[in-house]
Amino acid sequence: MIAHETTPVPQYAEEVILGLTSPHKTLPCKLFYDEIGSALFEEITRLPEYYPTRTELEILRKYSREIAVSAGSPISVVELGAGTATKTEMLLRAISWRQMRVKFFPVDISPSALSEAGKRLRAELPGALVRPVIADFSDGFHFLNGISGRKLVLYLGSSIGNFDWNDAIALLRKVRDQLCPDDALLLGTDMVKSPEILVPAYDDAQGVTEQFNKNILRRINREFHGNFDLDSFRHIAEWNPECSRMQIYLESRKPQVVTLAATGTTVRFRAGERIHTENSNKYTLDMVQQLLCVSGFRLEQSWFDERQWFGLHLARVN
Ligand code: AVJ
Repeated sequence: MIAHETTPVPQYAEEVILGLTSPHKTLPCKLFYDEIGSALFEEITRLPEYYPTRTELEILRKYSREIAVSAGSPISVVELGAGTATKTEMLLRAISWRQMRVKFFPVDISPSALSEAGKRLRAELPGALVRPVIADFSDGFHFLNGISGRKLVLYLGSSIGNFDWNDAIALLRKVRDQLCPDDALLLGTDMVKSPEILVPAYDDAQGVTEQFNKNILRRINREFHGNFDLDSFRHIAEWNPECSRMQIYLESRKPQVVTLAATGTTVRFRAGERIHTENSNKYTLDMVQQLLCVSGFRLEQSWFDERQWFGLHLARVN
């Protein structure tokens, strides 16, 4: 059958096919963030069970000035995985009290989230120069090189937690390689805590996280002409204490066969078979210190909320 011969297939097709045809099925979590997925994630950040965003915001609210002083000035701000950059506003305000104009480079894979960030920040902070960058982290951070003067790189929201230990190191090293001695990194990390808090944060009562997880199948249906039936998959969130992470899956409720017509792929599921869609690593301060150290950074200062559920860490290039 060559019916879809001329249908353009996304560049991550190989990753998707490899992931779905391997004995332990996986899908890359970056695929969550199409327009619908980015909106669903915004909704997650407002859920009562999902504490990370509001906790990080609380730390930023309390310590923005301190962080701005520690970072030094004048400084330009680059935010990796900025999304709609709602948390950054506070920090940009604190920085703009200390210098004339602050340049802000939000970097993300979602054009829709970035355009919202640009629109909002230009209205809220007329003193800021906002320059959105659409980029995938896989092609290095060469754009950092083109930014003149001292830089503060933000990597907030514990987005680093989506990466396995070695991949997180590789990513932080790539960032480090583009930084100068006066530059700094502000890293947000979700801390290890009780599974009674962690599990509901990834399996909320309203089922928004379930929709967010299943949106990956909806996206594949659209982009690969697939026929995943979303209702025949179950959302699963488990705490893995050995690996210190939350693991998110889609579990097939029954034996079924799914086809992706665009690539001519057939995917068979047993009842109870899972697709691993995401890991969300949780850290202790020791782990953060280790992670930064082996990536070529030195941890200078950390800020926490009162419960120590979330941490913001300022690190310098070694
Ligand atoms: C955007 C990676 C920080 O791991 O908490 C939220 C993504 N997944 N609920 C996280 C997510 C399910 C989130 N990060």
